[in-house]
Formats: sequence, C-alpha cells, structure tokens
Amino acid sequence: RKYLVINGPNLNRLGKREPGIYGAQTLEDLKAELVSFSRELLMDLSFEQSNNEGDIIDFIHGAEGEFCGIVLNAGAYTHYSYAIRDAIASVDVPVIEVHLSNVHAREEFRRESVIAPVTIGQISGFGFDSYRLALQVFHNQFKGDTL
Ligand code: DQA
Repeated sequence: RKYLVINGPNLNRLGKREPGIYGAQTLEDLKAELVSFSRELLMDLSFEQSNNEGDIIDFIHGAEGEFCGIVLNAGAYTHYSYAIRDAIASVDVPVIEVHLSNVHAREEFRRESVIAPVTIGQISGFGFDSYRLALQVFHNQFKGDTL
C-alpha cells in the first residue's frame, strides 16, 4: 500500500534549524528512517517537501486515487492555512497531522491547528517517532486499502 509523507515549510532545514527543539537529524535522515520502518510494515512510501503553500495543496490534490493516506507536517501553515485545510477537505484521502515538537507546550499560537478538524488525528511531540506512529496507525487501521 502506498502512503505519502508531506513536509512543509522550513522542514528542509532540519538538523540546522533550532536543533534544541527539532533535533540534530536532517530531513534525509528522517526519510531513511521512515523508509526502513515502512518496509517492516510492507508499505510503499513517497516523500514531498515544499516551503510553498500552493505546492502543498497540489501534493494533497494529487494524492487522491494515488495514495491510501497522507502523513502531513504542514509546519507553521498548520496554524493559519485555511487553504491547506480546504485542500484536505476536498480529497477523499485520510490525513494524519504530525509535529516533531509538542505544539501544545510551546507558544500560544502553535496550540491552534486549523487543519486538525479535517484530519483523522494529530500526533505531536515525539520527534521522528511522530511520523512512525502515524504510519503505524495507517498500517493498523487501513489494512484493507488497496492503492
Ligand atoms: C512543527 C511545529 C510548527 O509550529 C512549526 O512552525 C514547524 C514545525 C513541528 O514539527 O514541530 O515548522 O510543525
């Protein structure tokens, strides 16, 4: 089964960016870890990253009919992008929202997610494990999916 991992703005800076919050590992490290994890679950993973809102919207639209689910870290767009929220609502693909950091334990503005109501759930605060947990959920709950 095919799943898509989308990373949004500034996540290409992982490893260099605020390592005290986001860790020392890079986006390439994340991909490598998730690929090996997905093999254990017999999943086929694809990855996208963009710093642009419109690209993220296009990735979401393009996932319909192509992927069984999306793991989405929308970065700061999480907190204010109604356009990404509407994109998720416009497709028939389950989305799990993930965050490396615990967005509820940081600045006030990070507590709000405008995309959460159109996702099947949010996983926040576990670093790379947030992504692994999301893939595990898809594996456990969407076994019958055929894409
Ligand atoms: C983040 C949390 C967001 O608030 C922030 O803007 C990010 C990364 C996370 O993974 O912890 O860019 O989504």
